[in-house]
Amino acid sequence: MVKKELLEQKIGEVIGLEIAAQKSVQELMSKGLLKSEHEKKLMPMKEEANKQQQEMEDLINEIAEDEGFNLRNINSVSEETAQKAAKMMETYLGQDPDTQEALEFLCLAEGAEVTHYEVLSSITKEVKSRKFGNKVRGILKEEQNHLETCTKLAKQNISKE
Ligand SMILES: [Fe+2]
Repeated sequence: MVKKELLEQKIGEVIGLEIAAQKSVQELMSKGLLKSEHEKKLMPMKEEANKQQQEMEDLINEIAEDEGFNLRNINSVSEETAQKAAKMMETYLGQDPDTQEALEFLCLAEGAEVTHYEVLSSITKEVKSRKFGNKVRGILKEEQNHLETCTKLAKQNISKE
């Protein structure tokens, strides 16, 4: 059995990573690090991250009472995770980042999402709601596609550098 607090932490982390994913794309765009062909592929990904964030938040709100989740705990973990991810991006990009580094950071961020949803999907039996497991598995598939998209862009870009 997984402790409730740990489950809340894992849920908070995936929501925080969704927030961070959207902010990263936004910031890399405003820094001028993404080319228009990248933006075309990454904007739908950013929108999907927003949809995933909303869906997770709505579902958690819906089932919190039944499952005995502490929403404040989940929210504070998600905020902290989003902040940590923003700091990681700053460190990763350093002083003089280029497009390749920007794309590779997004690979890193999407890779983290895949791993965190994988871990969460391994403990969904701890949650009574069937909807929860289905949602986590559904998002996991989408995250695998996100990682593939970013990896493809990074591979295409390096051959043009
Ligand atoms: Fe993603």
